[in-house]
Amino acid sequence: MVDIRTVAVVGAGQMGGGIAHVSAMAGYDVILQDVSLERAQQGVERIAANMARQVASGKLSEADKAASIARISAADGVKALAKADLVIEAATEEEAVKRRIFQQICPELKPEAILATNTSSISITRLASSTDRPEQFVGIHFMNPVPVMKLVELVRGIATSDETFQAARGFSSNLDKVTTISEDFPGFIVNRILMPMINEAIYTLYEGVGSVESIDNSLRLGANHPMGPLQLADFIGLDTCLSIMQVLHDGLADSKYRPCPLLVKYVEAGWLGRKTKRGFYDYR
Ligand code: CAA
Repeated sequence: MVDIRTVAVVGAGQMGGGIAHVSAMAGYDVILQDVSLERAQQGVERIAANMARQVASGKLSEADKAASIARISAADGVKALAKADLVIEAATEEEAVKRRIFQQICPELKPEAILATNTSSISITRLASSTDRPEQFVGIHFMNPVPVMKLVELVRGIATSDETFQAARGFSSNLDKVTTISEDFPGFIVNRILMPMINEAIYTLYEGVGSVESIDNSLRLGANHPMGPLQLADFIGLDTCLSIMQVLHDGLADSKYRPCPLLVKYVEAGWLGRKTKRGFYDYR
């Protein structure tokens, strides 16, 4: 079994940054890669800011923060991935984007390196088939915010070897995460359940049943959810929510997964939630 010491994360956004953050805190050497060195460096800066929050609340010492940050390097191009024992793709939730990335990075990887995807809904078997290593390909799905959420959902494709799956499980438990195992069906477990709820909340708004505040307060105070569904949609990103609904709708071929037209309209307007400062709430 490959001895995982160096982890590369492809995509330095919200999820990729979070994965790099917890990997470095667990003692792994981390390479953070994105479309440019600058984007990767911005990712490292955001990780430092998130670690500072943990220092402020006493969950992390200054010394451990400094040591963790020192273990992360921003990559200048895909050649840097050659050192990685485990590569985790955490790019946009679009199949074409992920396929393009695999095409670019596979020739640079060690033959024994494991390739994982943080996809939240797309078929692991199908993504694996676009790589040179379907046996060494696995789904490791983290939740946002990664440093806070305990769960990692593991998904094996039809060709994933036992060795690869056990390595992914061992890695996740070294990050102090609890794992669940999902079969390779659209949306896996978390998003098969969570996204239709969010989509239904958007329908509830669209049909005028309640206001944004009423919908969110109903679930926050009436069902003890930490965030209301519309606030959570803004937090996840409305583009990601739409992509996942489309995967459910196409993959399960059932009209109950039809993305709400209001969700489609917001995404078309570029109102993607917190990251664009506008979604169901205004963050400007
Ligand atoms: N990095 C490090 N620490 C962070 C953090 C981050 N990015 N974000 C929050 N925290 C920490 C805060 O520092 C704080 O720590 P202390 O308690 O020690 O002070 C703690 O988390 C709580 O944060 P806040 O006080 O700022 O705010 P909060 O109490 O409202 O909690 C929340 C924020 C943890 C995000 C909470 O609202 C929550 O759990 N929301 C639901 C999140 C959720 O459902 N995530 C799953 C989304 S689905 C998904 O990810 C899968 C997918 O494929 C789409």
